Amino acid sequence: MGISGSPSATSKSRILVEHALARLATGGAATQMVDLAGLPADPLLGRGASGPVAAAVAATIGARIIVAGTPVYRATYSGLLKVFFDLLPQDGLTGKIGVPIVTGHGAAHSLAVDHGMRPLFASLGAAVVAGGVYATSSQFQNGKPAPELVRAVDRAVAEALALARAGLSGSGAFP
Ligand SMILES: Cc1cc2nc3c(=O)[nH]c(=O)nc-3n(C[C@H](O)[C@H](O)[C@H](O)COP(=O)(O)O)c2cc1C
Repeated sequence: MGISGSPSATSKSRILVEHALARLATGGAATQMVDLAGLPADPLLGRGASGPVAAAVAATIGARIIVAGTPVYRATYSGLLKVFFDLLPQDGLTGKIGVPIVTGHGAAHSLAVDHGMRPLFASLGAAVVAGGVYATSSQFQNGKPAPELVRAVDRAVAEALALARAGLSGSGAFP
């Protein structure tokens, strides 16, 4: 499944998550996108209950492969993505495979993949693909990702599928 952690209506990271989901579908996985920007803010912040937020949490816990896309904000993942991950139960991603996709304006904060997303996934028990994706604004032309970027997403998805098929992440419903 995919999680988009950008509040932007024209999100670059969301475009890459959508591409990853299309590749996962080609690989035989059932896919679903959760767009965090479309969820009500108060329940996301832990104030009150909400059907859509509960459904998003349930979908995440039920997935086998989780592609999480986020812009770099202040050198790491977005607050939107963080508040959603804070709603997941302790060890809620055990046995799952995380695929981090991060977009930033420049290359300076590319370590947001390895110093931000990787421990975020790991804190909930997920295994993370070795090849997380970082993209800069210059790798998009008219909203379209450059070919090398598409290849990087394809590689990350292929790695996640291989790990899932090998059962290296433990049990869980595919994907
Ligand atoms: C509040 C805010 C903070 C940002 N902080 C950074 C940053 O620290 N480093 C960086 O490279 N880009 C930063 N950016 C730029 C975004 O990461 C970049 O435009 C990204 O591609 C947006 O992804 P999106 O289209 O999926 O929202 C920031 C943008 C905003 C709005």
